[in-house]
Formats: sequence, structure tokens, C-alpha cells
Amino acid sequence: MGEVSWPSESELNFIKTKVADMSGRDAREVRVVVSPYRICPLGAHIDHQGGTVSAMTINKGILLGFVPSNDSQVVIQSGQFKGEVRFCVDEMQLPKNAIKLNNSGQQNGPGPGPGEECNWGNYARGALYALQKSGNHVKWGIIGFIYGAEGLDSSGLSSSAAVGVAYLLAFESSNNLTVDPEENIEYDRLIENEYLGLKNGILDQSAILLSSYGCLTCMNCKTKEHKLVRAPEMNSRCKIGMNKKLKILLAFSGLKQALTTNPGYNRRVAECQEAARILLQASGNQGVEPRLSNVESEVYEQHKCKLDPILAKRAEHYFSENNRVLNGFDSWASGNLEEFGKLISASGLSSIQNYECGSGPLIQLYEILAKAPGVYGARFSGAGFRGCCIAFVDANRALEAASFVEKEYTILQPKLASQINEGKVVLICDAGDCARVI
Ligand code: GLA
Repeated sequence: MGEVSWPSESELNFIKTKVADMSGRDAREVRVVVSPYRICPLGAHIDHQGGTVSAMTINKGILLGFVPSNDSQVVIQSGQFKGEVRFCVDEMQLPKNAIKLNNSGQQNGPGPGPGEECNWGNYARGALYALQKSGNHVKWGIIGFIYGAEGLDSSGLSSSAAVGVAYLLAFESSNNLTVDPEENIEYDRLIENEYLGLKNGILDQSAILLSSYGCLTCMNCKTKEHKLVRAPEMNSRCKIGMNKKLKILLAFSGLKQALTTNPGYNRRVAECQEAARILLQASGNQGVEPRLSNVESEVYEQHKCKLDPILAKRAEHYFSENNRVLNGFDSWASGNLEEFGKLISASGLSSIQNYECGSGPLIQLYEILAKAPGVYGARFSGAGFRGCCIAFVDANRALEAASFVEKEYTILQPKLASQINEGKVVLICDAGDCARVI
């Protein structure tokens, strides 16, 4: 399991005591799902097109303490959001857009409970939906308390997938269901694509479910084949283990918005599909599913002149990013962090210029990070419409880089900077491990 420093004993005790108070059970009976946040150094926005992505987790994330209920009741409280989520596992869950008002104006199917801030219980209901839809018999509910690390929700670290995975693992554990990571990748896809209606790919949950400390996770989102690429412990370039040499910086913009409420993500997905449709048609393959992974790169080179300027940029991002990912695995495997970092920053630039998904403050953060001392490379994290940037930095210079970024960003965006986690613009993290129940 490697040298993972999260969660700490005190965090685990805090969660266990909470659940013991809620359920009246002994704290020793409480199980805890550890579901880490993920980063994607290379491979942004190509998962939904079937591209190959790189990912790893960090040593921060979601903790879900729970005990199986003695019946079908689900009762969950949150450390971040108000209200208590209550439903029964024998209620049939329907996708959000399938919930209609009946003749008396009430919702068909269960909706949010009273006082449930931001419908935060939807991920628990979505997890049940995914399990039910896939034919699993869920008989026992859970009594649980969910807690996200240091207010990092909606920051582009994929807190939503970490939450979805956490509920899946808790329901599975309570119902003695044996489910492998590949199946859970599909179940989380059902939560996001079907239950919540976000047209995203499988990068987030694959990273959370498959990652292993010290490795870069490689996921081919078309074939679903994956492998772990281990960093060399020692070679001529890095005299100490790569994971000791490297720190991960999370630099927060102060902008937060859930992806499901931002139309930009699904619009970009549609633009990529449209580009694929035109390229496939131009090459006589109109019957093929319009995804850019179904377009050969030679076909792209030959017919890209047929794309309008916006679609041409989206396609350019896809094809150039796929190449960066493949080159990145070589750099990682040989311990060449300088080269790996350059690819990360080039990927960040393509997100700005070709995928056009940044916002002003995020672009400023990216530029500051790219010139910070000891930084190998930087890019937006997650969808890049809000949230944070990530950077790989020389462990010996991480503190210096963090204070540089904090100072420069506060000069450019004093108001946003003052709204961030008590003014802490930058968090220094380590790599993490996969999601698990302890
Ligand atoms: C979000 C989505 C992912 C992926 C990234 C961008 O996190 O959920 O599927 O597309 O954005 O790489």
C-alpha cells in the first residue's frame, strides 16, 4: 500500500465517533471508505472521446464512515452540507431528468430531503440507482457520515467521483457484494452520465479505483485497458525515489462551481463529437460512432481543413493531447521529471488555446505556477472551468514555490484569494493510493 499519510488516526477517530453517535453502535463497528481525490497530469478532456489518459490520486479526499443499518433505511449526514439525507434502498431510483411531477404536483420517485443543501444526497441516490440498474440486490441501508478534506469540494479534484465511489463501496460492503474495480468504474459512469446527466468520461473514477502509490495510472478509455506505470526508484537522473523527489502543488483560484451546473463541459463534448462526425464522413466512415478515438490520426491530418475553426481547435487538442500522454508515460517510466513537466505545461496551454476551457483567474494561476521556483510543469485540474491548477514541483523547493504563487496570485486576485481556505492559496500534497474500505 506504500507510504500514504492519509487518513490520519485522528481523522478516522473523528468519523467513527460521529457515526457511533448517529447510530448508537460501538465506534469499533464503524467502517470507513477512504476515497481519494485524483489528478490528471496528462490527458485532459480526452476521456469522453475514448482517448488514453494518465492519472494518480493524492493524499487527500473523501472519508465516509458507516455502519450497515438493520433495515433498508439510509441516513447520512455531511461535514460540509446541511440537512440529513434519508431514503430506503428498496425505493426505485430514477435518473434526475426522468423525475417528473405527478398530477398532484409531487415528484414521482424520491427527491431531496427537507433542508438538503445543494441536493448533496443525489450521489448516494445515484449510487443506489447504479447498483439497482446493474441487477445487484441491495437490501441493507447505511447510517453514515461523509466528510471531504479541507473544503476541497468543487475544486476540480473530482470530489464528485470520489463521493460517488465512496457510496458505491459503502453499499457494496454493507450488502456483502463483491464488485471489482472495473465494474465500479461502470457503476460510477451510470451515476454521472445517466443519473446526473453529465456527459463526462471515465477518467475520474478510474483514477480513484485503480491508482497505486508510486505509479502513474494509464487508462485507455476506448478499450478500457489499463496499466500502472511505476516510477523508477533510482536511476542516474534521480538519486532518490521519484515519489520522494516530487511534490504536488494544488493552487486554488477561489472559483467554485459544480460541473453538473456548468453548460460548458457538455458543450465541448458535443463539439468534439461534431468534429468526429465530419472527419468520419469525409473519410467514408459515416456509420461509425462519432468519437474522436474512432478517427485515425492520418484521417485527421488529411481532412482537418474541413473543420470550422472552433471544431478544428477541439480536434487539435484531442490528437495533440493523446500524443503528449503517450510520450509522458515514457518520461515517467524513465524518471525524467523535467520532460514530464514540460508535457504537463504544454497540455495546459492546449487546454487554454485549443479546448478554451479556462477562466481568467485559472489562466493567471497557470502562468504564475509555470514560472514558480522548482516547478516542473503545471496545468488546470479537472474540467478547468473553475477550481484549481496542479503542478509537479521539486520536493526541496515546494515551500518556496508555494509562497511565490500565493504572493503573486494575491496581488492579481486579492478578493478571490481571500476567499480560499482561510487564505491558503496553495496546498502541498503527496501521491495517494486507491479507494478502499477500512
Ligand atoms: C472532469 C470530468 C472527466 C474529465 C475531466 C477533464 O473531471 O469528470 O471525465 O473529462 O473533467 O479531463
